[in-house]
Amino acid sequence: MTFPRSFVWGAATAAHQIEGSPLAGGAGPSIWTRFSHTPGRMTNGDTGDVACDHYNRYREDVALMKSLGLDAYRFSISWSRIFPEGIDALNQHGVDFYRRLVDALRDAGIRPMATLYHWDLPAALDDRGGWLNRDIADWFAEYAAAAFRALDDGVEWWATLNEPWVVTDGGYLHGGLAPGHANLFEAPIASHNLLRAHGRAVQAYRALGKHAIGIVVNLEPKVPASESGDDLAATRRADAYMNRQYLDPVFGRGYPEEMPDLFGEAWPRFPAADFDGIAAPVDFVGINYYKRGVTAHDPRQWVERASLVRQPQSIYTETDWEVHAPALTDLLLWFRERYGAMPVYITENGAAFYDPPTALGDVVEDPLRVHYLREHLAALERATAAGVDVRGYFVWSLLDNLEWSHGYTKRFGIVHVDFATQKRTPKRSALVYRDFIASQR
Ligand code: FCB
Repeated sequence: MTFPRSFVWGAATAAHQIEGSPLAGGAGPSIWTRFSHTPGRMTNGDTGDVACDHYNRYREDVALMKSLGLDAYRFSISWSRIFPEGIDALNQHGVDFYRRLVDALRDAGIRPMATLYHWDLPAALDDRGGWLNRDIADWFAEYAAAAFRALDDGVEWWATLNEPWVVTDGGYLHGGLAPGHANLFEAPIASHNLLRAHGRAVQAYRALGKHAIGIVVNLEPKVPASESGDDLAATRRADAYMNRQYLDPVFGRGYPEEMPDLFGEAWPRFPAADFDGIAAPVDFVGINYYKRGVTAHDPRQWVERASLVRQPQSIYTETDWEVHAPALTDLLLWFRERYGAMPVYITENGAAFYDPPTALGDVVEDPLRVHYLREHLAALERATAAGVDVRGYFVWSLLDNLEWSHGYTKRFGIVHVDFATQKRTPKRSALVYRDFIASQR
């Protein structure tokens, strides 16, 4: 495989999934600290209290990244570490942690990409309505501006939000993720405020930053399970809900025409004046790709009235996601067709598999993950060869970590973590990725 020499090879993580010590150094709790401390919410009652202890071991982890030859590292900033109450009083200890991390990365020759919001809203802001309160656009802009001032000299790419669809669908519509609401009427309000907050942060960056800013969305190409009119319509609805709901407004097109039908009486009338700010021009789009969605009509499902149809010939991961690399090529071609020439980074791509207990040796053999990685890199190469402006790839994830409400039961890392001892052991996939990156120099 051959990629442009300037192509950026990295790995991704998120604060709450790896850092641990969520209240250290004067940090405030986030909605994930609360959610994971609420009985019944997390598999095995797991929490992010220790996670990968990255808060204390970040130097070791940066050395690990260097040993793998990574060009770049995508991490997220915990909002309540640097604003314990979400706004007003800045916590210098929190800023200093990220300052040290960014400096360690730069010293190692690794280019930082920072996500401002990877799901860990300050609990103090949730108490004021969280993403349902229109003021959150101001709160987020204040936080973002502080982060830009403190870290933009070292951070080369900023992502405002990670996966607004998941924030809303999991956090406000179905409730399996923090803050755990299940409310049809709240979902479009939360989504709209996420987009408003995104736009405000982009505008703030133009005055304060000198690098690049964008948004990260999770996209899942929807293909119909059959040619029936019902399945074709369900596929369009699912595509609007998951793939176009956020990108269309960011690209100045407003919401997809399907949205009022999807939400019915729960779809609000949004102020027209909001849409210019949401469409503040971005420098890149980050795409998280994990799977495609073979879609059938299913009236039992809220909103999209569609569900996924299992493909008996496919490999499925431990999170029950279908492995289907060709859809990554199709997705990138679709993105360029719909949204035009825009630099793209694959900001997450990876798989949870059961890694057998050979974990005790020097290397963990993870053939299914190696296969996943190879197939997806090949699919990515096909998209770049077709002229899509993809500039980088970040594997999810550097480390096994807290997979949200699944706790520690789903391992996505290319590096194995023994959560009892915090020992890191590269999996075969990490070594294959290392050798692949070296082959592209
Ligand atoms: C994505 C999230 C990321 C991780 C992967 C498996 O939706 O952005 O934090 O949990 O899924």
